[in-house]
Amino acid sequence: MNSTAIKNRLVEFGESKNRTENFLSAPQISWRSSLKGCNAVNLSFRERKAGGEKFAMLTAYDYPMARLLDESGVDLVLVGDSLGMVVLGYPDTTSVTMEHMVHHCRAVVRGAKSAFVVADLPIGSVDTPEVAVQNAMRLYEAGAHGVKLEGGVTRCREIAAIVEAGIPVMGHIGMLPQRVLVEGGYKIKGKTPIEAAQLCADAVAVEKAGAFAVVMELVRHEVAHEITTTITIPTIGIGSGPDCDGQVLVIHDLVGLFPWFTPKFATPHAHVAVAIRKAVQTFVRDAKAAGEAYSTKSHDQSLPLEKSPLPEISSLESRKTQSPGRGNLNSVQGQIEPEASNR
Ligand code: KIV
Repeated sequence: MNSTAIKNRLVEFGESKNRTENFLSAPQISWRSSLKGCNAVNLSFRERKAGGEKFAMLTAYDYPMARLLDESGVDLVLVGDSLGMVVLGYPDTTSVTMEHMVHHCRAVVRGAKSAFVVADLPIGSVDTPEVAVQNAMRLYEAGAHGVKLEGGVTRCREIAAIVEAGIPVMGHIGMLPQRVLVEGGYKIKGKTPIEAAQLCADAVAVEKAGAFAVVMELVRHEVAHEITTTITIPTIGIGSGPDCDGQVLVIHDLVGLFPWFTPKFATPHAHVAVAIRKAVQTFVRDAKAAGEAYSTKSHDQSLPLEKSPLPEISSLESRKTQSPGRGNLNSVQGQIEPEASNR
């Protein structure tokens, strides 16, 4: 189904044309939560799955990364609580708070103009349906289009309550990083028939509770395949094989920005940490060399000001308009996109 057909369908579904345009094309404009809006999101994701569409989701935690992902065509941007590990330097996600999530969500929303922004509800933020709704509302008011929460059968009441409050929910089943301390590690799920049956029950429960999609983390590939063909909402896999309806990765794992650890299932397609180290080493070397050159050439700082080796301000002014090179403010400004310079 093409985007015009989806928009028409959503308008039929009861949304005003403007509101529909907003959530399809301008996520940074906030709108009030409504059950109709939430149902429309659910419907559009189901229909996209039914039409055979595959989904690309990546994490972002700040404005520039969100903008880069958005400009590169991702469908969904996840403000994941992996934030705790790859940005804040904690060993796992169990120290992430609502304050962290709201703060980073706001930055991401400013950068994502077309993608659907989902923000994670961190550990301890969904303990009861009431608390879950309050916290989901905070992320929604920060500009997220939907929220994600970990848990299947055991979190159905919270998912249903958030959906009832008009906020789209993405489920998250399989390995649940917020339970890493309880489980003693990141373990593949679905290895035994009992675990596989539990995962299927979780997926069906999340769908029935009203989620628009579900992340499956570290689920055995055959089980992920089985679930994907059973439920009607998109499954978004991470380390769960190729048969899910979409794939999600932590952006740092995709671009090699967290070189100290890369999960086995992630193949970096760039080595940004290597490029950063190289650039920084060059800068450090140049800064030190320049410092040395300066201190040997012009150690005579005691000269009176009128005999200073620095050029006169007036000659700098004339260079500003003549030279096309670096240091010429006009030429540098000319290289900045008009839109980007408008910060
Ligand atoms: O927090 C996160 O980044 C996630 C993904 C790994 C799915 O939940």
